[in-house]
Amino acid sequence: MPETALVVGGGGREHAIVRALRRSAAAPELLCAPGNAGIAADAEVFPAVAADDVEALVELATGRGVDLAVIGPEAALVAGAVDALEAAGVPTFGPSRAAAELEGSKAFAKELMAAAGVPTASHVLLHSHEEALAALERTAYPTVLKADGLAAGKGVILCGDEGAARAACDIFFTEQRFGATTVVLEEFLEGEELSLLALCDGENVVPLAPAQDYKRIFDGDEGPNTGGMGSYSPVPGFGAAEVEEIVERVHRPVVAAMAECGTPFHGVLYAGLMIGADGPKVLEFNARFGDPETQAVLPRLRSDLVDLFRAAREPGGLAGMRADFADDWAVTVVLASAGYPESSSKGDVIHGLAEAAELAEVTHAGTAARDGEIVTAGGRVLNVTGLGPDPAAARDRAYDAARRISFDGMQIRTDIAARAVKRVSGP
Ligand code: AMP
Ligand code: GLY
Repeated sequence: MPETALVVGGGGREHAIVRALRRSAAAPELLCAPGNAGIAADAEVFPAVAADDVEALVELATGRGVDLAVIGPEAALVAGAVDALEAAGVPTFGPSRAAAELEGSKAFAKELMAAAGVPTASHVLLHSHEEALAALERTAYPTVLKADGLAAGKGVILCGDEGAARAACDIFFTEQRFGATTVVLEEFLEGEELSLLALCDGENVVPLAPAQDYKRIFDGDEGPNTGGMGSYSPVPGFGAAEVEEIVERVHRPVVAAMAECGTPFHGVLYAGLMIGADGPKVLEFNARFGDPETQAVLPRLRSDLVDLFRAAREPGGLAGMRADFADDWAVTVVLASAGYPESSSKGDVIHGLAEAAELAEVTHAGTAARDGEIVTAGGRVLNVTGLGPDPAAARDRAYDAARRISFDGMQIRTDIAARAVKRVSGP
């Protein structure tokens, strides 16, 4: 059993992972790099060690005898944190740099899906502005343009007509806002979005509870995309049979194809799906836990997360294992700072944290400690997760707790999980 676990990252997702590891029977000592002001209450934090500073992570992990490292953010995966830690003898949960290409390159993911027969939107790759403008004349609208590469969930532009698509191409190619040289032009899919995350050991797939994420900044799914403004789990209409069907059509073929390529996938395979009239289609893969999905999923987990993480590291180690979840519902509301997602506001004092924590799980994202107070330090600041026997109870609890918290310019969506409440309890 591990004695010391290191969680890499410093957002709400990592805070939720730290809390879930705290519930493990293994009772590991918990470290988190860099962590944040809230994680500091649950783990020893290392603010000077950036999540993608691979050398510093290796030094910390070997110096402290870490026997389980868990990587949160994609930047650390793509920087090769798992490869370097494993090479230094630190057992690490997460995909290798090569396997993380599934998230790091949309072009790679699209090719792999085509080879594995996984349903997804049709697409073309655009390598230059000229090529893009020509393609925009031929395509149907609405359409979707995506930067190839990591863009924290923000490099996707939905375009209603050719004018909007041309403007998006200016952003990608002329302004270079997402640093991409390749842009994906993708068929617009209609339906309902679902995030289905699964633990993978290179061969087997163990699904976690499904969740729904709210990507846009404003109520009613208006405004620009963000990293995620709220989530809930489970999702009405996606019980064990539906989850199994998706895993069979999406996750298992991808895991098999990755193994065939010589880059077996260990870690969390996160499928962002659109469930339309002709079944699930993949919008994107992530090679890590979702944020804020994790804040709604992990509080419901009843299985031991240390056992699952250790098993996923071993080839075939998850055979016969499952992840069990409480029947409770969880609703997570994100509190963001002024200006998010274009910018963020720092240094505003946060009030009401203790009162909120009496009602719900409060996990920290962009927070910092200053003169004995907790202040804002990023775009997404806090996550408030309410639990309850039905969606309405969980939602009421989350909002009741969130209302206790205040800081200058606080942004909050008021419609998180409203859809789930309507479906389960009626209008
Ligand atoms: P992604 O980062 O690729 O998941 O895209 C972010 C968000 O953009 C998704 O959660 C969807 O809401 C939307 N989106 C992405 N691709 C499509 C598509 N092909 N059709 C419709 N909406 C999309
Ligand atoms: N919630 C979306 C993501 O983690 O990418």
